[in-house]
Amino acid sequence: MDHFLYRDGALFAEDVPVADIAAAVGTPFYVYSTATLVRHFRAFDEALAGMDHLVCYAMKANSNQAVLRTLAQAGAGMDVVSEGEYLRARAAGVPGDKIVFSGVGKTEREIRVALEGGIRQFNVESEPEMVALNAVALELGKVAPITVRVNPDVDAKTHAKIATGKSENKFGIPIARAREVYAMAAKLPGLNVIGIDVHIGSQLTDLAPFEQAYLKVAELTEQLRADGHVITRLDLGGGLGIPYETSNEAPPLPSDYGAMVQRTLGHLGCEIEIEPGRLIAGNAGLMVSRVIYVKSGEGRDFLILDGAMNDLIRPAMYDAHHDIVPILEPAAGAEKQPYDVVGPVCESGDTFAKQRDMVPMKANDLVAFRSAGAYGAVMSSEYNSRALIPEVLVHGDQFAVIRRRPTFEEMINRDSIPEWLEPHSA
Ligand code: LLP
Repeated sequence: MDHFLYRDGALFAEDVPVADIAAAVGTPFYVYSTATLVRHFRAFDEALAGMDHLVCYAMKANSNQAVLRTLAQAGAGMDVVSEGEYLRARAAGVPGDKIVFSGVGKTEREIRVALEGGIRQFNVESEPEMVALNAVALELGKVAPITVRVNPDVDAKTHAKIATGKSENKFGIPIARAREVYAMAAKLPGLNVIGIDVHIGSQLTDLAPFEQAYLKVAELTEQLRADGHVITRLDLGGGLGIPYETSNEAPPLPSDYGAMVQRTLGHLGCEIEIEPGRLIAGNAGLMVSRVIYVKSGEGRDFLILDGAMNDLIRPAMYDAHHDIVPILEPAAGAEKQPYDVVGPVCESGDTFAKQRDMVPMKANDLVAFRSAGAYGAVMSSEYNSRALIPEVLVHGDQFAVIRRRPTFEEMINRDSIPEWLEPHSA
């Protein structure tokens, strides 16, 4: 459930009419709901209540400072994958001991920043990374807490671009080699092995692949303990999917997921960490856009919006479906007609939906893309020299711009002209 509902014939974000935000900040823009973010975080927190646990929000999904602060205040830790994310988390007030560092390509500099600043653990993904981490830790006179990310070779049954748990993927070390790698880690004095990490993919709509992976982790925990390792923490990654199409069957709930975790891993007495991103932020956000033109084409009508693929890349990149709803509530039983919903960018891939049934639309109408709070703003670019769009956070009847729209002057001034070029006179 989210907090974007029609009320008195118009779409609201919590208690704020979305049209009022559009009037204040202009379109396109992203808007997030505080109540939805917190509700989703709590759903996970409560689902794991029977176990010692920490929910580390995968901030790659949406890393705005105000979003991070909202979740940190609710008690969330963070899963970071770069120096930038680490610094953003710290800037939002997240203490180092609630931050886990994931990713296949941590640089020495990133390792140093996190070790010096404080970190809960590194999720190590390869032997060379282990060697690098050990070296930096020894140089700083520290011991780095680590888990090793294992690749369980299970099929997550999700889009190929976001599946990560098959042996052909670049992630983790093959689970069959885990004991050997743990033995190596135990010999490195700069490392303190505390657990196991696994993440098999994103937008999973079935618990079965998670369960397969977690059963393998349970077995590995027992083997490693028998080998003499002290395994006290299991990081289970993120990946639980959300309902992008409200007409489709809903994926499992965090409570179902929590019960499965308890069932498969509860007996081990480990502290559990999870790294959900999409399920916390996805349905907590809309992208709001305005119709520029309605254009009649050959056998089809195009709805040309002021938002484009550079603002929300998911349909172009993953053929993702986002529900697109008008800001004015359609009358019950209103006739619909099919539209190709597109942006102004100069490529055919700039298509949000083909032959989507919608009530008749006209220029200047506002529409909202649902489920756009995760992997929306964070994946946007300035392609076609379109300025990054603003982000707004709603809290009850209040709203605030949490990232303003940059000016074109700011955009242009980030470039510089080398001295061998003649300055222009204008
Ligand atoms: N942990 C790790 C190690 C990850 O790689 C990811 C996501 C997560 C947690 C969070 O997964 P989530 O709960 O959000 O599914 N841009 C794509 C999604 C990429 C996911 C990358 N890794 C999209 O828009 O669908």
